[in-house]
Amino acid sequence: MQTETTADRTITWDEGGECLRFIEQTLLPERCEIIATTDVERLATAIRRLEVRGAPALGVAGAYGVALSARSHRHAPPGAFMDLVHRDAAMLQATRPTAVNLGWGIRRVLAALDREEAPGAAAERALEEARATEEEEVRLCHAIGEHGAALLPDSCTVLTHCNAGALACVEWGTALGVVRSAVQMGKEVKVISCETRPLHQGSRLTAFELARDGIDVETITDSTAAYLMRKKVIDAVFVGADRITRDVVFNKVGTYMHAVCACHHDIPFYVAAPYSTLDLQHSEADITVEERAREELAACGGRKLMPDGVRARNYAFDATPLGLVTAIITEQGARRL
Ligand code: MRU
Repeated sequence: MQTETTADRTITWDEGGECLRFIEQTLLPERCEIIATTDVERLATAIRRLEVRGAPALGVAGAYGVALSARSHRHAPPGAFMDLVHRDAAMLQATRPTAVNLGWGIRRVLAALDREEAPGAAAERALEEARATEEEEVRLCHAIGEHGAALLPDSCTVLTHCNAGALACVEWGTALGVVRSAVQMGKEVKVISCETRPLHQGSRLTAFELARDGIDVETITDSTAAYLMRKKVIDAVFVGADRITRDVVFNKVGTYMHAVCACHHDIPFYVAAPYSTLDLQHSEADITVEERAREELAACGGRKLMPDGVRARNYAFDATPLGLVTAIITEQGARRL
């Protein structure tokens, strides 16, 4: 494993180094460290630890995970190759249950493998498909950005939750892609970024990437959002999604609370996501919402925040009924509900 400190993309294939590179997001904003790896288990650990996170980036990570597995088993006997790759794919799939994109990326590359092909050729094909997934992700975010930006007035304040930006995708972002496209069109957009307890994707990541790009951003505690809506400071809410079923949008826990408040204050609530986030054959009841460790709530920066022995309920996501969503913005345009 090597580390560096700059990257144009959150996750990408390094042709010269023949390895996968991704930004280690748990270290931001203190340090921007790039991890270079060829090891699928290292990638699975990165997904579990949220070094790589955000639904579209997880789709690309899943795709590259299968490609790394195929490369590492390319000298295996032809009869064993597919079983070894499927075993690694199952290990990757088990890392995080809620974002549908992870499994989508894994399945996309598995589907590109031909059982009849020699392992070496199959491994090359897997890598090509993973790289195509990465490139497609970039194109989709720019299309989402343009469709969403058209909905914003020339001067406005947008509230967002968690991080649905370049760091959660490959570049540009979904919800933050809308902001970037609007700024590129000459609109004056200010972003209010909810800190996003307990892992602070809003204050650590959204604020980091917007400030780096010179976009006006201010961080609030998650519980300040309702008050700012009541004070008429917020013109629109834009969030990303981890999975959109036929009845709800799964996104970072706290999203539902913002949707209820936005509805109460008559503020449009938009969800920006690529087609790989749609899961319309399922409904809320079919989906497992990830519950994370008590430690994430019990301590912060080495300080204890809860008495020993007190239980914690730490859902990573919640579900917002589609009735609270003004429109879903995909690469095909705004779908009003
Ligand atoms: O737990 P995380 O940080 O992976 O959660 C990410 C989110 O909830 C994002 O809002 C979502 O993946 C959309 S990213 C474009």
